[in-house]
Amino acid sequence: MKTSIEAQRKASDELVGDGYDFGYHVTADPLVRYLRDRRLKAGLEQLRRRGALDPANQSVLVVCGGAGGEGIMLRREGFADVTVSDLSPATLEVCRELDPELKTRCLNAEAMAELADGSFDLVVVQDGLHHLPRPALGFTEMLRVARTAVILIEPHESLVGRLIGTEWEVQGTAVNYVFRWNGSFLKQVTLSYLLRDRATVLPRRLWDHNLAVGKLVRRCVPGRWRLPAAKAVYAALTPFNRLGNMMVGVVLLHDPSAAGSKLPAARTTG
Ligand SMILES: C[S@@+](CC[C@H](N)C(=O)[O-])C[C@H]1O[C@@H](n2cnc3c(N)ncnc32)[C@H](O)[C@@H]1O
Repeated sequence: MKTSIEAQRKASDELVGDGYDFGYHVTADPLVRYLRDRRLKAGLEQLRRRGALDPANQSVLVVCGGAGGEGIMLRREGFADVTVSDLSPATLEVCRELDPELKTRCLNAEAMAELADGSFDLVVVQDGLHHLPRPALGFTEMLRVARTAVILIEPHESLVGRLIGTEWEVQGTAVNYVFRWNGSFLKQVTLSYLLRDRATVLPRRLWDHNLAVGKLVRRCVPGRWRLPAAKAVYAALTPFNRLGNMMVGVVLLHDPSAAGSKLPAARTTG
């Protein structure tokens, strides 16, 4: 287990050493912004609809946050207190260069023991947990350190994923199995860990392939029509979202002792 986690750290550090260009995280190009940010915006929208979104007053922890893509987007959405965590110190250094206002922490998402229970209002992951040897453990750590909600954006179990999706990702000497979630699994992992029947689990499913859609519109559509074309592609796929390849899962944590709970007093998680 340690070897695979070390390999992930090394692969990310080496990516930085090789001069990988993380500029797309800060670009204002509307097409890139739309393609990169739409899933996290969908997660935030779920919180907003339930009255659980308050960027000015909520702290956020991004897990497996790399060079800060999600952190930078969240700051642009008005969050003042954003911490990006990752396993790779070199990647976090890039993150601080891209946005010096972001806080960073070097953390293994599977073992964030140095963070107390409920230390952040929101805890977010995007395209990260499937790099872990134990994605469900990483997710329960996120539940543990969250006070208000968790947003999980990861591949969804799907026919398309099974037929043509990547099963094993390889980067340098690091290999990871692409773990795909579904609504039932998300709910079971959440409730069995929290022991709260009043946690709300919202497993939204949608289509997302930002690289392919970006390539398609850049190749086939002239400049100013690219953003509308990308939006049109996803609008056309919307009726088929229940077959989608991506999970935008939101868990809203409720007070276990709130009226209406069928459970006895909750245990302390940890
Ligand atoms: C595909 S990148 C995604 C980064 C970022 N979320 C994004 O979309 O730009 C996956 C990230 O997970 C990090 N990672 C892999 N295993 C990890 C672990 N056990 N704990 C924390 N971060 C990890 C890697 O260092 C890498 O930065």
